[in-house]
Amino acid sequence: MASLRSVPIAPKALPVVGHLLPLLRNPLEFINSLSAHGELVRIQLGPFTLVMICDPELTRQALVDDRVFDKGGPIFDRVREVVGDDGLASCPYSAHRRLRRLAQPAFHPARFPGYAKVMSACVEEVAGSWRAGQVLDVPTEMMTITSKITATTLFSAALPPSELGQVLVDVKTFFDGFYQRMFMVPPLDRIPTQGNRTHVRARMRLRAAFDEIITGRRAEGVDHDDLLSALIAAHDTEDGSPGMTDAEISDTVVTIFLAGTETAASLLAWALDLLARNPRIERRLHAEVDAVLAGATATHADLPRLELTHRVITETLRLRPPGWIFTRTVTADTRLGGHLLPAGSCVAYSPYLIHHRPDLYDDPEVFDPDRWNPERPQPPRHALVPFASGARKCIGDTFGMTEAVLTLATIAARWNLAHLPGDRRVRPALGLALRPRKLHLRATPRTVGKDGRITEAA
Ligand code: HEM
Repeated sequence: MASLRSVPIAPKALPVVGHLLPLLRNPLEFINSLSAHGELVRIQLGPFTLVMICDPELTRQALVDDRVFDKGGPIFDRVREVVGDDGLASCPYSAHRRLRRLAQPAFHPARFPGYAKVMSACVEEVAGSWRAGQVLDVPTEMMTITSKITATTLFSAALPPSELGQVLVDVKTFFDGFYQRMFMVPPLDRIPTQGNRTHVRARMRLRAAFDEIITGRRAEGVDHDDLLSALIAAHDTEDGSPGMTDAEISDTVVTIFLAGTETAASLLAWALDLLARNPRIERRLHAEVDAVLAGATATHADLPRLELTHRVITETLRLRPPGWIFTRTVTADTRLGGHLLPAGSCVAYSPYLIHHRPDLYDDPEVFDPDRWNPERPQPPRHALVPFASGARKCIGDTFGMTEAVLTLATIAARWNLAHLPGDRRVRPALGLALRPRKLHLRATPRTVGKDGRITEAA
């Protein structure tokens, strides 16, 4: 029987708990420290062993070989509790290719001008409701924008504002409890504590709300030109199967909601934090959006000219990747690097770890959107994996980028957002996504004068 003995173990494992304490106390620092110990490093979480892949090329190999490095391990066991066994992000290799083919038409480039229209309207509505001098709870505001975008691109108007409010609360409850539950051994997560009960209730309500909409849509038979219509209409020409069952559509809808909402909100919140800390870059961003938008809402047609906005988003994805760690289960004895990994082992990859390696990036802790300027030497391939790679790469990568660029440009065209005096570095809260724990910014309107120049209001 093969063993993991050739993989070096991370230092400072304590008896019984192993590395659980540093992982819970300061996960990012702990994860980043691992690459100093090898290309693969073993960590011990109580009785559970996890192999962290620290090398970009080995990360690529594992992501490309998704039959052997299949979805599984503590993260996806938890995700499956919510999205079911047929969720596109968490289903096993055996079910994946067909589901992906069926979901792909919903993300066809031809649909993006329509999605972008929804995105622009949602950001206009939320950012248009801010008042001069208001102190914004930025992660919450960004969640409001991205949830509205996800709900409206999925369901058009089928989710009325009152129900959307409950969905937002339930999505937040799910994310808040996720990280703690990831490390709970199964019997503990079923103890009827207040936290576990709230988590389960939120999951059940989410599922019921979405199922009702799907059933209604099937019965109605009308194409609403939204994501849900595309999922219902999809047919798998390759194996001749008739398309997704209701259960598969339901799991895919829940998956899209969970995979696409907090990730995009965290990305935007971090971008606003980083810009407020880097006034020189912020001024250049304002100059770009003033030239392109002149105070108007960003649209799909503006995207090619929002170059710096793109680079700000890309650099934020590098420095604060919303998907910071993912697990895989090894389905057959295999080699990775110089090591033998037995079937049943659990491995993890971390975009955060790869993006912070000093051998891949000069000054990896510095926010420098210009590193993505094509005239500068570019980092090696596979050094940037915020959306993963291979067959399980994020299906919503273009959706997320479009949403983030349109939202950031529209906000920057209208508002100057600044930290409150004395605000320190924002600490990350770890859930399924890496998001700012607390981030408050004061909003000052930027106004267009008669001469067409944009100024900050006093
Ligand atoms: C904008 C920020 C986003 C980031 C950083 C992000 C990141 C990722 C990553 C890293 C994965 C692969 C996970 C793994 O390896 O296990 C993934 C998968 C996925 N993402 Fe995203 N995502 C984002 C936005 C979105 C959006 C907006 C949607 C949908 C509208 C979406 C839907 C999905 C789905 C369905 C999968 C599973 C794909 C498959 O297995 O075939 N994501 N995402």
